[in-house]
Amino acid sequence: MANLWVKKSIASLQSEVEGETGGLKRTLGARSLVALGIGAIIGAGLFSITGGAAANNAGPAVTISFIIAAVACAFAGLCYAEFASMIPVAGSAYTYSYATMGEFIAWIIGWDLVLEYAVGAATVSISWSRYFTKFLGYYDIHLPASMTMSPWDSALLADGSTVHGMINLPAIFIVVLMSLLLVRGTKESAFVNGIIVALKITVVLIFIILGWGFINSENYHPYIPLNTGEFGSFGWSGVVRAAGIIFFAYIGFDAVSTAAQEAKNPKRDMPIGILVSLVICTVLYILFAHVMTGVANYTNFQGADGIAPVAVAIDHMGTMGANGIIVPAYPWLNKAIIIAILAGYSSVIMVMLMGQSRVFFSMSKDGLLPKIFSQVHPKFGTPSKSNLLFMLFVSLFAAFVPARVVGEMTSIGTLLAFVLVCVGVWVLRVKQPNLPRAFKTPFVPLVPILGILSCVFMMVFLPGDTWLRLIIWLAIGFVIYFGYSIKNSKLNNPKN
Ligand code: ALA
Repeated sequence: MANLWVKKSIASLQSEVEGETGGLKRTLGARSLVALGIGAIIGAGLFSITGGAAANNAGPAVTISFIIAAVACAFAGLCYAEFASMIPVAGSAYTYSYATMGEFIAWIIGWDLVLEYAVGAATVSISWSRYFTKFLGYYDIHLPASMTMSPWDSALLADGSTVHGMINLPAIFIVVLMSLLLVRGTKESAFVNGIIVALKITVVLIFIILGWGFINSENYHPYIPLNTGEFGSFGWSGVVRAAGIIFFAYIGFDAVSTAAQEAKNPKRDMPIGILVSLVICTVLYILFAHVMTGVANYTNFQGADGIAPVAVAIDHMGTMGANGIIVPAYPWLNKAIIIAILAGYSSVIMVMLMGQSRVFFSMSKDGLLPKIFSQVHPKFGTPSKSNLLFMLFVSLFAAFVPARVVGEMTSIGTLLAFVLVCVGVWVLRVKQPNLPRAFKTPFVPLVPILGILSCVFMMVFLPGDTWLRLIIWLAIGFVIYFGYSIKNSKLNNPKN
């Protein structure tokens, strides 16, 4: 009789880590891991979502929202760091759950991580497509609008007519490009990622430094605009709602843990990769939001979609002309920002696709998924077939599903994963307190409990249809688990 709660022993996992890496190559040092984290973190959340959250929910206090979301992520990050240093295997939250809460919960989390990584990659590719289309527009290149949107989206053309989307071709393009890069090799991908991360941080710093001189302190009054009477629309409820919205901006630090089997010294470098990338991004986000809402009034971001929030801020960095219109001091900055955004989003997509293939790699090694997901390319040393299968899957979402739907699915999936990781750290401390832990989460069980509460709190604020999609996704997962995985699980069927 198969046992749903069978657990992997930590000792066997640790010996797996000491020995073979399943064919994956150990090429990443601490610096590459921090870059991997930043590569996955800074993206659509900062450049697109911040403006809307300031305009509709928090005003200049969006900086406080960034702090609230960062605190929630820090609790989860500290828990991830303990696990990633103790069980540095590619499966991340999936493997941690397998060791602590048993196979069935591990399956749920592995399946749920598809929402964070694969669907997350699709979300960012849709934003990428939007900016790419705008960028081409600067050079008078116009793609047919129906080819740049999902069938559920529509756009108003200059002549007043409405065009409906058919397929999002640029989104497919970037997913295919990043997948092929991943097939080529982790080291090469990490190298490209390093360059992109440098570019992304440079542009964020330029924005902060150049913008600082144009801050008009009047824009900070009131810092927390009065609530409009509607929950979540300014006031403190608005600040918390905005924290839930900009949570998306922090997603990705945990992706570092999926590269554990490619890290040279995972016990030391995993916590560094996770926590340092989180700290760097938190500081940059708060400063960025401070400058953004300081150079322009939060009301200026009203209705600003996509690139607009950042562009609006840059347009306010200038001196007032005689006609009462601001003469921008840095007109070139807008184009530079778009290039950095395009590159930055590419690295987010790449790290997420990489994280996805590594989680399925581990699940396949454990027999819960077909072997194709753990076959490693003989020359490139990457799970190339898995990369290609996910290229197909993510392309379908990117091409045919609207951004809001995939974005909220990403958030709910990620939050659920964070909750289970926090529970896992706590469970393992109680059950096996004496296991060697290279990094220890401080104040257990307080930190895991606060992590669980803050993530559940943000989940509760997500819309009902997103909950329904999560339930449907998990139901599909149950069918696969009982139809395939439980029969092929190596732990449940040692003779297989
Ligand atoms: N944190 C990533 C982004 O904002 C997912 O794009």
